[in-house]
Parts: sequence; structure tokens; C-alpha cells
Amino acid sequence: MSLKSASDNIDIGALLGGSFLYRIPKGKSLSERYTPFNQYVDLLKLNGVYPFGRIATSKLGEEMYISNTWADEDKPCINFGSQDYLGLSNHPEVIKAAKESIDKYGINAGGSPVLGGQNILTSKLGKKIAEALKVEQAHIFPNGWSACFGAIAGLVTARDCIVMDMLMHNSSDVAAKYATEHVYKFKHNDLTDLEKKLKFWRERNKDGGLFVVIETLYSMNSDGPDMNGVYDLCCQYEAILIVDIAHEFGCMGEDGLGLMSDILNNKNKDNLILTGSLSKVMASIGGFVAGPRSIRQQIEIFSPSFTFATGISPISCSIALRSLEIIFSEEGKQRRRDLISIIEYTIDELNKRGFITNGYPSPIIPVLIGDSRLARLLCREVLSMGLIANLIEFPAVPRNKSIIRIQMMGETSRENILKACNILHEAIIKVQDVLLNVKMDAIEIMPEGE
Ligand SMILES: Cc1ncc(COP(=O)(O)O)c(C=O)c1O
Repeated sequence: MSLKSASDNIDIGALLGGSFLYRIPKGKSLSERYTPFNQYVDLLKLNGVYPFGRIATSKLGEEMYISNTWADEDKPCINFGSQDYLGLSNHPEVIKAAKESIDKYGINAGGSPVLGGQNILTSKLGKKIAEALKVEQAHIFPNGWSACFGAIAGLVTARDCIVMDMLMHNSSDVAAKYATEHVYKFKHNDLTDLEKKLKFWRERNKDGGLFVVIETLYSMNSDGPDMNGVYDLCCQYEAILIVDIAHEFGCMGEDGLGLMSDILNNKNKDNLILTGSLSKVMASIGGFVAGPRSIRQQIEIFSPSFTFATGISPISCSIALRSLEIIFSEEGKQRRRDLISIIEYTIDELNKRGFITNGYPSPIIPVLIGDSRLARLLCREVLSMGLIANLIEFPAVPRNKSIIRIQMMGETSRENILKACNILHEAIIKVQDVLLNVKMDAIEIMPEGE
């Protein structure tokens, strides 16, 4: 099967519905319960609009070869869809560090960090991350998801309360459900609503644990909160602040600390915990929970994703360590400047072509498309024209507020950015036409309450 484009017919069924309709299967047998979802996804694949399952057949970079789990084509593409924001995956020093560490430390951690799965590199990495964040210590987790999950799962108990931004990443959302039934979501970045919820809980629980959970850069919106405002509210209501800095750490702001810079440099951090990933700017795999020494034992023994999961490999540690050195050097500063400059250039070129982009300039550029049928067709079209750009639809964003999420890498040339913006522009004109001609008398059926 080959990749599909605007000239191929589209089955109307492939433009309707969504995975969310299959979240709660019916029936008793595996086949009864799960076959309908397989059939739906097969329909999407057949029509080239399944947004997942892309496979790289060359190394990560601004240009790469792409195939799909269902298409036997191998296509050269411009890459607008990876999280290697500073382009360190191809840095010769980082690659050298990975190779050298194989010879010295081997390839496998060999167990959970509490049962021998740490080596000298893991503890060095923890120290370096803590140093970069100006906090007392950090634990290294298997990935960012398990770090964000582990911080909440290990520290929050059933009696405590979590007040979290309604757009928190899945890792914190799942952890909150696991940790306590007292979870209140406040409107995105809305400090008035945050305060209302803090006040409500604190008035009823004068002495209990109260946790505020936020991100510095929301990956669907490219925005973040008034950090000092959140910090002050936490002090006022004696709340502990957990901040997921996965997308911002290392790549935003002059010093790489983004929105956290002022707090990390100038404020008391006794009630502050930072969670993040090694898989974005650090070109590796792993995650961290960083903060004061007071949380050390609780994380080590009661965070299930730390205690009961194998530690990251020495290779991943070496990659992250060398990347950190670069990120917090003069070279890192220059890479951040180059990154923000091509981000602003890309946003400008997109806006010139009539696209509306959301949020403020960051490595994540959400391009607002709206109609999910249009967004699916657009995503299929740009891939057939040689551009990787990810489709995000409900429930990750509100219904019919689909976006094409661009993720920028500092190494991307202006020539490729222009090519990519032109592809998006040509593609949207084509697919708007296709949509006009598709028979749209089918009415989308949604489950009640959706
Ligand atoms: C905000 C946020 N936190 C945590 C994670 C998980 O990080 P990782 O991919 O390293 O598991 C992600 C993943 O993209 C994320 O967007």
C-alpha cells in the first residue's frame, strides 16, 4: 500500500469519529471487545489518515526517510515533528560520548535503581541535573512519563489534595487519579480559578498536604503560566508546587531555565519539585524528579516507577551528561538563540500564508486548523508532499479544534522551513477543495456526554 494524497478517494467514515469512541469496549471476549477499534483504525490506515504509526527508516534529523506501519513506501521528508529541540541527537560530541560509554560501562543497567541498577553515571547525572536546576538533588527515572507519574504517585497520599491545570500531561493526570480522589482541575493558566480551589481546600484542611501541579510549557498550546503568581499562591496557601518542565528545560530563555529562571535563581525552593524528561533537549531517554533533600527517601522507596522499574542504561546517561554540558555552555546559549530565531521565522512565514498559530514562540508551534476532517486530510496530504507534521485532535485538544503541531529543531535550515511552509499552504488549498467535494451527508454520531 502506498501513502495517500488529495488525488486519492477518501471514505467518509475515515473522516468521522475518533479513537475516543472506542475507549470503553463492550462485550466479554477479547474479539468482541476490541475488534471494532481495529476495524476503525484499519479504515483510517486504508485511507491514509491514521495519524500514528510513522516509522523512521533513517536517523533523526531535519530531513529523514519515513514509512508507515501500513504503507510500504519510504519517503524523504522535512521533519517538523521531533522533540530534539537543540539538535543534539546529531552532535558529534554527544555521539562520541555514547560510543565511549559502551566500551567503559556496557549497555544495560541490569535492574531497578534500588537493586543495583544504578552506576556511577546515573548518580553523576542526578547531581548535574540538580546543579543545573539549582536544587539539592535529583532522581533519574526510566523516562519522563514515569518521572512525572512517580513524583505524584510517591509523594501524594489519599488524604492529600491536588490542584492541577486542566491541560496537564497524561503522566500527571494518571498519577493524580492513582494518588488521591481529591483532585481539582483549574482552568488553564487561570490564577483566579487556581486560588479559588486552593482556598476551598485549605479552609477545610488546615494541616493537610496540598499540591499544585503545573507545566512551564504546555505542549498543545505553546503557553505557560505566570510562574511567580503561581509560586506566591503556593506560599500563601502552604501548598507544594510540582512543575513539569519537560519541554522547556534547556531550550527556553537565555539561561535555558525558561519560566523557572527567576524562581530557581532567587527564591526558596523547599516546597518546589521539578519533573522532566531527558528525551527532548538532552537527546536521550529517561526522566528526572528534582527538588530538596527532604523528598529523597520518599521518592526512592515509594515512587513505583522508580523502585520497580529498571534504571536507564549507561549509554542514555552518557548522552544526557554530554548534552547537559553543551546545553549549559556558550554553545548551548548560541543554539538557543538560533532556535528562537528560526521559530520566529517559521511563525512569521506561516502567518504570512494565512495560518493562525497559537501561544508564544517556543519549539512547539500549534497551527490551528479546527475541523477535524480538514486536519486529517491536511496531515495525509503534507506527508505525501514530503513533510512530517503531527496531527492532534480531540480529546488532546477540544472537539473540532484540531491542530497541526509543529516541533522545531535548531538545526533546521531556512530553506527547508520555506519549503515546509509552502507545502502546508499548497496542501491546505488542495484539501479544502477535497472536503467540498466529499459527500458530507453523514452525520457524526457522538456518545452522550461527549
Ligand atoms: C509535558 C510532558 N511531560 C512528560 C512527558 C514524558 O516524557 P518522555 O517522553 O520522556 O516519557 C512528555 C512527553 O512528551 C510531556 O509532553
